Amino acid sequence: MKTLIYSAKDFEIPFLEEANKDVHTFKYITDRLTTNTAMMALGFEAISIFSADDASGIVLEKLKDFGVKYITLRSAGHDNINLKVAKRLDIKVANSPGYSPHAVAEQAITLLLALNRKVTLARKQTQNYNFTLDKLIGFDLKDKTVGVIGTGKIGSVIVQILNGFGCRIMAVDPFEKEELKKRFYVSYTHLDNLIEQCVVIILSVPLTSDTFHLIDKSKLDLMQKETLLINVARGAVVHTQDVLEYVDKNRISGYATDVYDKESGVFFYDRSKNKPHDATLDKMLTQDRILLTPHQAFATKEALANIAQTTVENLSSWQQGRHPKNTLLPANQVHVDDH
Ligand code: NAI
Repeated sequence: MKTLIYSAKDFEIPFLEEANKDVHTFKYITDRLTTNTAMMALGFEAISIFSADDASGIVLEKLKDFGVKYITLRSAGHDNINLKVAKRLDIKVANSPGYSPHAVAEQAITLLLALNRKVTLARKQTQNYNFTLDKLIGFDLKDKTVGVIGTGKIGSVIVQILNGFGCRIMAVDPFEKEELKKRFYVSYTHLDNLIEQCVVIILSVPLTSDTFHLIDKSKLDLMQKETLLINVARGAVVHTQDVLEYVDKNRISGYATDVYDKESGVFFYDRSKNKPHDATLDKMLTQDRILLTPHQAFATKEALANIAQTTVENLSSWQQGRHPKNTLLPANQVHVDDH
C-alpha cells in the first residue's frame, strides 16, 4: 500500500524499513501533518502519523479529498486524531498500543529517581567543582506511599517496578486489576484520597475528556508539600501553569515530565538556534525542581521495532480487506478541535 510517513525521524526509518521488507511503498517526510501539509498526501492511500501530528476534523476533511483511506498511528496515544470525524468520512484508523509498556514505565521511574535524588542538579554542581550535598537531599522510596493514576499497560509495569522498591502502592482506575491487588498489594481508591495520601504521584492515563487538566489547582491543593508529580501520559493531563505555580511556591516538591501540552512543533526538533517563544517552557527548563524530557519514553530499540512491526501489520490488514486488531473507534476522547 502506498503510504506517506509524516514526521519521519532518522532514528525510526531503519526500523520501519526492516519491518516492511518492501511489502508496502513508504515515502518518508519530516513534515508534521497540519492543514498546510495535508496536500502532500495526494496520491497516497494511507498515511502514518505520530503524536505531534494534527489529525483534527478539518485536516481529515482535506485528507479525504486527497484520497486518503487509512491512517496508522505510530503511537499508543490517539488524542491528536478526531475519531468521530474519521468515522464519518470512512477513514479507517489504527494505532500501535502496547509496543513497549516497559520503555514508558522505565522512563517514569527514571524521572522519579532523577527528580528525587536531584541528579541533574548534582551534575550541574559537580561540573562547577561544587561537591557539596546541601541541595541534594532526597528520600528513600522504601515504605513510601506512591500513587499510580491509570493502571493500564504502562501503569501495571510501573506498579511492578515500584513494588520492587518496597513502596506501598495506591491506584486510581475505573477498571481495577485483580492481579495487581494480589501480586503487588495495590489498593484502589478514589482520586482525591490517592492525591492526599501519596508522596509520589505518577500519571499514566490517556488524554480524554475525563483526564484533560485532571491535575489542576483543586488537586494540587490536596497534595503534600513533599509530593513529587511524574507525568508520562500527555501534557494536557495537567494544568501546566498551575503545577509550575505550586512548585515555585513550594506547595509541592517537584514535577518531572516527559510530555508538555505545547510540545507539538517543538519536541523532536533541534530548536537551539530558533528558540520557541514560550515563557512556560523557559520556566520548566530553568527551575531546578522541574525536570523535562522531550517525549522520549518510547525511544528504546525494542519499542521502535514493535511500533514499526505494528505499523506494517495495520497496513497489511487493510490491504487484505481485514480490520486491524488495533482499530480505533470514537470514544470519549478529547482532541485538538476541542481545545
Ligand atoms: P492503556 O489503555 O493500556 O491504559 C490506560 C489506563 O488508564 C486504562 O486502564 C484506563 O482504564 C485508565 N484510565 C482512563 N481514564 C482514567 C481516569 N480518568 N482515571 C484513572 N484511570 C483512567 O494505555 P497505556 O498503553 O498504558 O498508555 C497510557 C497513555 O500513556 C497513552 O494513552 C499515552 O497518552 C501515554 N503514552 C505516553 C508515551 C510517551 O512516550 N511519553 C508513550 C506511550 C503512551
